[in-house]
Amino acid sequence: MTGDHVRIDVGGTSYDTSVVTGTEGEQGIDIRDLRSETGYITYDPAFPNTGAVRSEITYIDGEQGILRYRGYPIEDLCAHSSFVEVAYLVIYGELPTRAELDAFATHITRHTLLREDMRRFFDAFPTDAHPMAILASAVCGLSTFYQDHYNPHDPQDVEVSTFRLMAKLPTVAAFSYKTSVGQPYIYPLNHLDYTENFLHMMFAVPSEPYEVDPDVAKALDQLFILHADHEQNCSTSTVRMSGSSHLNIFGSISAGITALWGPLHGGANQEVVETLLRIQQSEDDLQTFVQRAKDKHDPFRLPGFGHRVYKNYDPRAALIKDAAHKVIDKLVGDDPLFDIARRLEEIALADDYFVERRLYPNVDFYSGLIYRAMGLPLNMFPVLFAIGRLPGWIAHWREMISDPETRINRPRQIYTGATQRDYVPIDQR
Ligand code: SDX
Repeated sequence: MTGDHVRIDVGGTSYDTSVVTGTEGEQGIDIRDLRSETGYITYDPAFPNTGAVRSEITYIDGEQGILRYRGYPIEDLCAHSSFVEVAYLVIYGELPTRAELDAFATHITRHTLLREDMRRFFDAFPTDAHPMAILASAVCGLSTFYQDHYNPHDPQDVEVSTFRLMAKLPTVAAFSYKTSVGQPYIYPLNHLDYTENFLHMMFAVPSEPYEVDPDVAKALDQLFILHADHEQNCSTSTVRMSGSSHLNIFGSISAGITALWGPLHGGANQEVVETLLRIQQSEDDLQTFVQRAKDKHDPFRLPGFGHRVYKNYDPRAALIKDAAHKVIDKLVGDDPLFDIARRLEEIALADDYFVERRLYPNVDFYSGLIYRAMGLPLNMFPVLFAIGRLPGWIAHWREMISDPETRINRPRQIYTGATQRDYVPIDQR
């Protein structure tokens, strides 16, 4: 869709272009011919003002705190849907019929096993390896077992790779965890649903039966729904960028997992709980930590707070905070870290520094407290984020590879290095 006329006068040249308008009224100036017509490029480090693509998957209104997958508000999906159904919606664009959902779930169930010789892969890592390192390596390694079926331009290959990734990521995650705790691997059970099966692989042991707690499974399923997509975030942009080289989907998802691991992104949920533990063990009071977060000379920032897009309360954080109440009450009763987190939020939201910068709790602020109450180790928290975000990564990769506007992503730069100079022989330096 194009709209209003735009004229940019620069360097004695008038560049006439138009506005690209989205279905929710977002507008962007189309600068696709700017350099060829004016010799100028734009300068926008970290791209806060740059629309990289047109996408139909997720809509965020950061000012209003709105998040919708394919037009459906996350509040409705959390209340009425399941993660597998939301994965179908995010990937294929429509809510499935009962038959479509059953077929999708069956395809996934049929692919949950890893090739047996992949088990050696996990043994190769040190037991204290971070599971995100194992996850990223294992997902890229998965491609070596399907070399005849990962052509990015073959729709059938893309479809079976979609099922394989959705099915095997929880298995890889659970095997990474079992490796780190020195327990035997627990294989997938086809009679369990997606999230129950993951919890069973994580916490069952061969020596006794393990019953998945339905309330825990429901809460985790809702957390997966809330992580399913978030438009052009760092890891999703990494998936799209790496895929633009016509890299197979396994390699692109592996790249997304490594980008998500960073503490400024999906690694923040681990960082939040580590910080709350430090606060709990510290002599300093909460105000001291809040002051440190505001101090430009102190590298400490409040993990789980702030967001590039949300300048209002992250709608996911509100839903996760509610879920945290229920899960923590049921599993641990009283959690001092949850109390600290809520007090921290209260102090920050009343502090001018946070108010002026519109810094609110984001998706990572409370999620780790739920994972911890479920008995997960801190370094598994980003892994749970990755399992939830997988449908979004897959959906964006599929949208990218089939978009006629897609070309290999290759941004420009403003060079500020040395101008030309002559080589100096080493004995004259
Ligand atoms: C996710 O993009 C997505 O959609 C991501 C995500 C998704 O679903 O994919 O939503 C998931 O990654 C959530 C974010 C998780 N990360 C954290 O919680 C880490 C802590 N947050 C910050 O590092 C920061 O808020 C970011 C990284 C989230 C956003 O960084 P920006 O947009 O580059 O903002 P900024 O660093 O330029 O901050 C603007 C101002 C600065 O102060 P001034 O220079 O204007 O004086 O706000 C300050 C910052 O110092 N600030 C903070 C702060 N976050 C920003 N000050 C203290 N504590 C913080 N947490």
